[in-house]
Amino acid sequence: MSRLAGKTALITGAARGIGLAFAKAYIAEGARVAIADIDIDRARAEAERIGPAAIAVEMDVTRQPSIDAGIAATVEAFGRIDILINNAAIFSAAPIVDITSADYDRVFDINVKGALFTLQSVAKQMIAQGHGGKIINMASQAGRRGEALVAVYCASKAAIISLTQSAGLDLIQHGINVNAIAPGVVDGEHWDGVDAFFAKHEGKPLGQKKTEVGNAVPYGRMGTADDLTGMAVFLASGDAEYVVAQTYNVDGGNWLS
Ligand SMILES: NC(=O)c1ccc[n+]([C@@H]2O[C@H](COP(=O)([O-])OP(=O)(O)OC[C@H]3O[C@@H](n4cnc5c(N)ncnc54)[C@H](O)[C@@H]3O)[C@@H](O)[C@H]2O)c1
Repeated sequence: MSRLAGKTALITGAARGIGLAFAKAYIAEGARVAIADIDIDRARAEAERIGPAAIAVEMDVTRQPSIDAGIAATVEAFGRIDILINNAAIFSAAPIVDITSADYDRVFDINVKGALFTLQSVAKQMIAQGHGGKIINMASQAGRRGEALVAVYCASKAAIISLTQSAGLDLIQHGINVNAIAPGVVDGEHWDGVDAFFAKHEGKPLGQKKTEVGNAVPYGRMGTADDLTGMAVFLASGDAEYVVAQTYNVDGGNWLS
């Protein structure tokens, strides 16, 4: 199929995991994709493996000059940006009494401020182009409900759901649809880190937390990055024209809303 034929996408944090799966899915649908990541070596290696429909772009979403440079490099290569996936984020966990101000700043800088100002910068580019666009933010089931030990990350993802609503309501006047995806538990390097944290804090063997959360999913297993690509393609396509400011759960049934 080619539901994204002729479209160009910028995906942050796409050197691995869910963002990389999105890049490959978009290219399979006919799009060209800028794999934007702070880990430029890995972004380059993945872009080379994918071929000419992908380029690697160095971008640190916490630094405005880096956001601007990444957008400029994408526009130089592809001529325009039709789709943004605000995907870059980090996980952090600690009991409330151990949370540090430095860790809070690090998580909110990337997950919230980085997402907002990347969205703002790409929205300006889309408005200047004059043909609307599609912006997809990566929220999480962690943004639907707080969790003991995960306060800062959960709060950052709740902020993404709220920013999706505000930006969605504002930018639709320019024909820019802003929506979000809230995954549940998705296996990959990100969750390897989560598993290692819980192994330490709950005295579990490595891998046990993953088994537990997978068994608790109504669908019967953890998600994979590929489980999310259908929603990401839909939200970037013309089929989502009338979808505004929403956050969609793609989580095997973990959260009902
Ligand atoms: N994996 C899950 O279970 C899960 C669940 C819900 C939501 N999510 C969300 O989905 C998104 C992708 O998750 P993932 O599992 O693929 O994560 P991941 O950790 O595997 O990948 C994140 C990518 O972001 C990049 N990155 C980090 N800081 C950056 C910065 N300052 N600027 C640019 N890039 C930066 C990293 O280099 C990495 O390539 C994230 O927003 C995450 O919060 C993941």
